Amino acid sequence: MGSVEVLKNIFWVGAVDWNIRHFHGFTYSTHRGTTYNAYLIVDKKTALVDSVYAPFAGEMIEKIMEIVDPSEIDYVVANHVETDHSGAISEVLKLTPKAKLVGTARCRDGLQKHYFGDWDFQVVKTGDRIDLGKRSLSFLEAPMLHWPDSMFTYIEEDALLLPNDAFGQHLATSKRFDDEVDEEVLMEEAAKYYANILWPFSKLVVKKIEEVQKLGLKINIIAPSHGIIWRNNPMKIVESYLKWAKGESEAKVLVVYDTMWGSTEKMARSIVEGISSQGLEAILLRLPFSDRGDIIKELLGARGVIVGSSTINNSVIPTLSPLLEEFEGLKPVNKVAAAFGSYGWGGGAVKTIEETFEKAGMKIVAPALTLKWVPDRNELQRCVEFGREFAEKVVET
Ligand SMILES: Cc1cc2nc3c(=O)[nH]c(=O)nc-3n(C[C@H](O)[C@H](O)[C@H](O)COP(=O)(O)O)c2cc1C
Ligand SMILES: [Fe+2]
Ligand SMILES: [Fe+2]
Repeated sequence: MGSVEVLKNIFWVGAVDWNIRHFHGFTYSTHRGTTYNAYLIVDKKTALVDSVYAPFAGEMIEKIMEIVDPSEIDYVVANHVETDHSGAISEVLKLTPKAKLVGTARCRDGLQKHYFGDWDFQVVKTGDRIDLGKRSLSFLEAPMLHWPDSMFTYIEEDALLLPNDAFGQHLATSKRFDDEVDEEVLMEEAAKYYANILWPFSKLVVKKIEEVQKLGLKINIIAPSHGIIWRNNPMKIVESYLKWAKGESEAKVLVVYDTMWGSTEKMARSIVEGISSQGLEAILLRLPFSDRGDIIKELLGARGVIVGSSTINNSVIPTLSPLLEEFEGLKPVNKVAAAFGSYGWGGGAVKTIEETFEKAGMKIVAPALTLKWVPDRNELQRCVEFGREFAEKVVET
């Protein structure tokens, strides 16, 4: 697959990683692969914005060579230190003797600590501008979106925003633009990406979007560094980010659980029955069958979450622990929660779950439902009631 012209003389020269199924080590599943997007702007001066993960350096350089001799590149902009966008920089810089490497001061320090290179670095900060000829590059620091070093590059002449990780999606496709792919798939991957990568920085997301609005930056195209380019409706993803960051979600309920001998599962199914009897959608996912990254995505869209586990050694089944830890790290806002589970003697699982909810800032709206051993018919009816009452709380919230 060759380069793709995004606008006249602005080329996508990135790489599609069709096979990657785990990102950030094994912390995030990428069922649909990903792309590393780099952009070449050819003008009186030529700039490369971002690069790709190191194994794809050759692919990117080939694409650049179809368009210009790399030795003509004047600027290599590093919006972000992380390896998926900077891995090929060392290779590129070998071919670009006159190029300055451009990024924030933290980016300079971070690249030095990753690659130990002695490069000609130009530090930029918010408001700085580099003229290329017909076009110019402006910079907007965006700390923690995704790392402290992150920044956005903006091309005013085209109202084109190159925000690196922000607004991205892990989606490998031969298509490059939002109007060319299935919208549902696209938004699903965008939501999963937000939930798993940007959720803890939601306050900064809102602030950054408001800053962009205040600066009056016109935006016609958003070209992130993963996935497709938003050219048809760039505001769709901006509005979705605002919604997710503010914790706006649908009145539906995510029920996550694990079980050893099936009692907690019986409870879970009856709880789901109670929720749906109120007309609310319930999503029932069992660990370890469901993937943690997918569960986190479902959590983003659901106002209510119910977690169930039977008790093992006074606590939860360990398959649930990584998810509970992630709740604490993500601190999802505006979520109502409750716990349930079967136990044999002293119990303890629901206490662990409720402690997690508290640490994560999730509001417990119902006392935990615990049942001894195998639930009988009456007890299952109590589970249905539990689900029904929880659904009412979700609607009220
Ligand atoms: C390995 C193991 C450890 C357990 N540890 C505890 C415990 O510490 N406290 C307790 O109340 N029940 C304990 N139980 C009992 C289970 O919680 C009980 O069998 C429960 O009904 C299982 O529900 P499930 O079928 O949903 O897994 C343990 C059971 C197993 C198999
Ligand atoms: Fe990143
Ligand atoms: Fe990234």
